[in-house]
Amino acid sequence: MRVLGIETSCDETSAALLSGSGDEARVESLVILSQDVHRVFGGVVPEIASRAHVTAIVPVVEEALREAGMVRGDVEAVAVTNGPGLVGALLVGVSFAKALAFALEVPVVGVHHMEGHLFAAALESREAVPPFTALLVSGGHTLLIDVEAWGMYRLLGRTRDDAAGEAFDKVAKLLGLPYPGGPAIEREAHDEAGRQLSNSYRFSRPMLRRDQRPGDADYYDVSFSGLKTAVLNAVRDSGAAAIEAPRRSAIARAFQDALIETLVEKTARAVRQFRRRRVVLGGGVSGNRTLVEAMSAHLAALGARVFAPSPRLATDNAAMIARAGLFHLERGERSGLDLNAFASMPIPGLAD
Ligand code: KG4
Ligand code: ZN
Repeated sequence: MRVLGIETSCDETSAALLSGSGDEARVESLVILSQDVHRVFGGVVPEIASRAHVTAIVPVVEEALREAGMVRGDVEAVAVTNGPGLVGALLVGVSFAKALAFALEVPVVGVHHMEGHLFAAALESREAVPPFTALLVSGGHTLLIDVEAWGMYRLLGRTRDDAAGEAFDKVAKLLGLPYPGGPAIEREAHDEAGRQLSNSYRFSRPMLRRDQRPGDADYYDVSFSGLKTAVLNAVRDSGAAAIEAPRRSAIARAFQDALIETLVEKTARAVRQFRRRRVVLGGGVSGNRTLVEAMSAHLAALGARVFAPSPRLATDNAAMIARAGLFHLERGERSGLDLNAFASMPIPGLAD
């Protein structure tokens, strides 16, 4: 089946063409247009995002078709993110997808954005398929999920407050680093100048205690707001009006270490409890090489392999939406032309 995927949940306008079936499906093209305009505001401005999607959606889809060497008539189904995300932004993709599907007389299917992230690694590695433990870490979500099969998900843990990417973005702001904060902090943490000073900072690992047991409410959940406050206090204690290197690098490194160690340990707990041999990462933060290396090293000891998508597929993209949509289409699922957009919605296939 040839599926056109469309993603407009946040600040990326993306379209992709996927062909084939199931885990054999191939990405024929992928176009991602990132809205740079939000940089000057230090974060995504919803109204601006919606308008930018309206301007970009037609050329982005046309470019995806051209890259795939296809024409509109080749599209056999349309898959579109219909939540969670910014409603105004989502509506652009959803309205476009429904109109196109109606005109082409092909089915349309709504896709949960986070289910899309679960499929991203599988587009690049034939082995990143269930059963696996999944850690999805993006700007809006931090989810630890046991994936027994595609469509069979058990939500183990989530963040109680800030998402992992959000913590990176907020801490970057505190340190005077640009948006998005993740890549900026990762670069800063690697700076040699901060290495000597790094022992002067050690932030406690949030929601991580040895006496936690499976079944405890905080065994899998995470929380990053305390860590953010610890960084704020460290910045204040430095006394300087603007935090400079090498102190800035040392704090960035200490923050990143605390966050990564927490994510690695929570993931390891899930691997042990469900005896999984594979871990799949997804979301923008999974583009963090320090995280992927720490995860791989730690989980190798438990006999589990770690799969992380390349940065292009780790962040928001329509290829993963087309792949998740294909899964639902192959099960005979279709959305009606009353398909709507939702700021929040439950992942389909969650066990209680
Ligand atoms: O998945 P994504 O593109 O968008 C959402 O669905 O939210 O994730 C964006 C988030 C941002 O918070 C950004 O700071 C973070 O991913 N991010 C990173 C890195 N690259 C992007 N965080 C840590 N290290 C990185 N290298
Ligand atoms: Zn995302």
